[in-house]
Amino acid sequence: MGTPAITGSGVFTPPHTITNDELVAAFNAYADRYNADHAAAIDAGRVAAKVHSSSAFIAGASGIHQRYVMEKSGILDPEVMHPRLPPRRDDQPSLMAEMALDACHKALAQAGRSAREVDLIICAASNHERAYPAIAVEIQSLLGAQGFAFDMNVACSSATFGIKAAADMMRAGGANCAIVVSPEICSAHLEWRDRDCHFIFGDVCTAVMIEPEERAQGPHFRIHSTRCATQFSNNIRNNDGFLRRAHGQMGDRRDMQFMQNGRRVFKEVLPLVVSHIAGHLDEAETSASTLSRLWLHQANKGMNDFIGRKVLGRDAAPDEQPNVLQNYANTSSAGSIIAFSQHSDDLPPGAKGMICSFGAGYSVGSVLVERA
Ligand code: COA
Repeated sequence: MGTPAITGSGVFTPPHTITNDELVAAFNAYADRYNADHAAAIDAGRVAAKVHSSSAFIAGASGIHQRYVMEKSGILDPEVMHPRLPPRRDDQPSLMAEMALDACHKALAQAGRSAREVDLIICAASNHERAYPAIAVEIQSLLGAQGFAFDMNVACSSATFGIKAAADMMRAGGANCAIVVSPEICSAHLEWRDRDCHFIFGDVCTAVMIEPEERAQGPHFRIHSTRCATQFSNNIRNNDGFLRRAHGQMGDRRDMQFMQNGRRVFKEVLPLVVSHIAGHLDEAETSASTLSRLWLHQANKGMNDFIGRKVLGRDAAPDEQPNVLQNYANTSSAGSIIAFSQHSDDLPPGAKGMICSFGAGYSVGSVLVERA
């Protein structure tokens, strides 16, 4: 029992990149084929023609320039338009577990810990490769960790909610050496044939080590407090699930992949996030002026600029609010953790910062940390 601290973090970055230009060329080739195949119905007004996408729109509207993916050729094949990820046999590690191992080993190395010391693993992600056994239990086995493990899903807020769960368990004495790992294969839930969203997501995996502060072996971030909130909304939704067959719905239905009303999300989530952060700072009796860094969810640069401005009362300098979405795109729950992992080493002891994620649910999770 003691104050929990983030003692290490790690990022697994997939092997393939897709630039906006590559993505748009594939989408436009797909749209041209579709329009040619449906020319008669389009001419008769029964089917809407597909309109070309544009790299300039994507970069301007989102700040995304490229994304990493686990498999590239299927996504860029106008006749396929999704990643080709062959099913694995039961005696092979799942793809999520494989991604998780790399990120976990990096986090363990930074914390100076061996996998045998780990007594809690939470696999916190927006999609899980199967219903059961939990991916977290497989990761526990492959790592050689002890204790217990479970999966959880709060969409884009999964990692911060996972950090809260682990930190609270640690404060209560229920865990002593935890990993919150977020393997996000977003390329598999994205509809690459939908111009409104085909540019949004990328794949990645992050891992965060959480231990009582007195066990920390090197520089670490004390977890001062965590705050989570949810409010139901249909504006970000994916209807796929185990009842699909029972519903008699096995076809190629658009609502079985990621759907969003991006404009509404923009308008509704921003005030939620701004007031959530203000509420968290109030509860912690801390003012925004004491924050050296905001590690925000990585969905949209304009959104992050807005949040930074509202929270700090002025434009945030780039190093105060680092973005990674230009390289990684939206990686769901992993985004704010990539930003934290790649942009936190330079902070001096005593510096405070806030990790904050938000997304489907709606959900908002924040973690107030201090460098020690
Ligand atoms: N290429 C070119 N033009 C495009 C396009 C594309 N790929 N996608 C949309 N457009 C067009 C639209 O057709 C529309 O044209 P119109 O004005 O002639 O009707 C115009 O661009 C604006 O579209 P809109 O969807 O309103 O764009 P936007 O400015 O809202 O940006 C998002 C879209 C998705 C980048 C933005 O809404 C967003 O990031 N929202 C929040 C997302 C979020 O946080 N989601 C959580 C996910 S986990």
